[in-house]
Amino acid sequence: MTHLNETARDILRKNDRGGYTVPTDGLYPYQWNWDSVFAAWGFATFDNDRAWTEVETLFSGQWDDGMVPHIIFHQSDPGYFPGPDVWGTNKTPQTSGISQPPVAATMVRKIYEMDPEAGRARLAALYPRMVAWHRWWHDVRCAPGPACITHPWESGRDNCPDWDVGMANVDGSNVGPYQRRDTGHVDASMRPGKEDYDRYIAILQFGKACGWNHAEIMANGPFLMADPGITFILLRAHRDLIALGQELGEDVSEITGWADALEAAVPSIWNPDLGAYDARDIRTGTWANNLSSAAYLFLYAGIENPDMDAQMQRTWDAVTYGIPSSDPEAAHFDPRRYWRGPMWPVVNSLIALGLKDSGRDADEARLRRETATLIEKSGFYEYFDPVDGTPCGGSNFTWTAAIWLTWAGRD
Ligand code: GLC
Repeated sequence: MTHLNETARDILRKNDRGGYTVPTDGLYPYQWNWDSVFAAWGFATFDNDRAWTEVETLFSGQWDDGMVPHIIFHQSDPGYFPGPDVWGTNKTPQTSGISQPPVAATMVRKIYEMDPEAGRARLAALYPRMVAWHRWWHDVRCAPGPACITHPWESGRDNCPDWDVGMANVDGSNVGPYQRRDTGHVDASMRPGKEDYDRYIAILQFGKACGWNHAEIMANGPFLMADPGITFILLRAHRDLIALGQELGEDVSEITGWADALEAAVPSIWNPDLGAYDARDIRTGTWANNLSSAAYLFLYAGIENPDMDAQMQRTWDAVTYGIPSSDPEAAHFDPRRYWRGPMWPVVNSLIALGLKDSGRDADEARLRRETATLIEKSGFYEYFDPVDGTPCGGSNFTWTAAIWLTWAGRD
């Protein structure tokens, strides 16, 4: 344990590029939005000051309209595709043109509560920026009700079967030649396929062609789906932001309105045939018909639902290690291909927060034990095969190290 704590801290330090942390060396050489706030949470266990810096650096990439992009390209790296030129957002610092799951307010609350005195001034400075980001989510991405994504990468769960129905309507045949870099770092069998990649690029090219005009992308973009993951993450984050605002003596009524509106939209992502929260194509109304781990964030969002409890136990019991990213009893389950089945420690850490907060202590302890076993056996990998525990993707991964320090490695 002690030895692994030291290794985890070392990973954070080694992935530190000066004010921000890369997800892993090589495969992901920039600052990623939600990875970064997990890194901050991890740093907070031994260096509270560095934790705040991480989040501040992330928000240095915030757009004028409030969006916090999914990647900030602080310095160029030819080992990654698609880089800043491909996105063409013309921002300083350079960024991608989409966002990522808004876990920041939740993690900032944790970091603040670990040392309120040291964090107060920094919280006060960050607060309006976080409010602006949440306002962007409410005004732009939640316009249809639930939180929607305009690119699978925005969900943070890139190639999850959740997005298959939306991706089927994207034409990837005219994207022109390009050179992927990801498959030079890790085994191609663990990564999204070529057809998927062509479509990812086609959606990106639409955004670039319209100058990253959000209204145009929401109205006419090639992909628009309701995401249960971001819906639950944002709902939780709204509430954490309210708590932070109250701590600062701010008027939080606007945020309360956003939280109420989002909570009222949660029934719209309930798929009665699947008997679960589900992703849905906004343009066609088609359900994804996929039970993903994002649906189990209902407790994290403070929602009780006995049907979801039963679904969670079923999918959890069908594998050996943790809660898989996609239903292990569904035909498309693929235990090593990224978000199509593998167990992601980082998502499990969020599910665990929901289990804990809702008083499901035994389940929380089980999830922690199963996650810890994987890391103890193989190290701090990006994700794992939930059936036999094979480590997958990148090694020495920042957010896996971070959630070890904050959660999985704790007795
Ligand atoms: C992949 C993941 C995404 C993550 C990024 C960096 O794109 O799907 O969630 O943020 O890698 O780790």
